[in-house]
Amino acid sequence: MAEELKIFGETKSEIYEGLYRQIEAVLESEDDVIANMANISAMVNGTFGFWWTGFYRVCEDQLVLGPFQGPMACTRIAFGKGVCGTAWKLRQTVIVPDVDAFPGHIACSSASRSEIVVPVFDRYGTVTAVLDIDSSELDTFDETDGFWLEKIVSLLK
Ligand code: SME
Repeated sequence: MAEELKIFGETKSEIYEGLYRQIEAVLESEDDVIANMANISAMVNGTFGFWWTGFYRVCEDQLVLGPFQGPMACTRIAFGKGVCGTAWKLRQTVIVPDVDAFPGHIACSSASRSEIVVPVFDRYGTVTAVLDIDSSELDTFDETDGFWLEKIVSLLK
């Protein structure tokens, strides 16, 4: 198996492990979902310095922009549209190594080159939101990001 790349002496998994523990501690004393989405966006983005990190919430038949870190973004995305709408429809994490190669990608910013979108489920298994992370570089995200980000959003209960 290929050795995991280290960033300042830590592997990506180790960084996520520490981040997960911090987020868990911050969310423990708060049950407001918007406040918790805001802190998750800030902590994930602050740790990795991504181009854009934020949530879109399911509001009836659309995703509506929620708490985020980064430049302004499109406010509404239809079911099944773009990477976010696709992750909602498929009910699974979608990793896009090159957004130009993803049919129907919604370009909120031309600086976004790759992305990962992770669905958020409530206790009944309904998708209530998605976490969308955009990178200004190609091929930023892999299964390690998917694994940890799914674990992080599962704290939103
Ligand atoms: N990239 C998303 C749109 C949202 S912005 O990137 C913040 C998509 O295609 O779903």
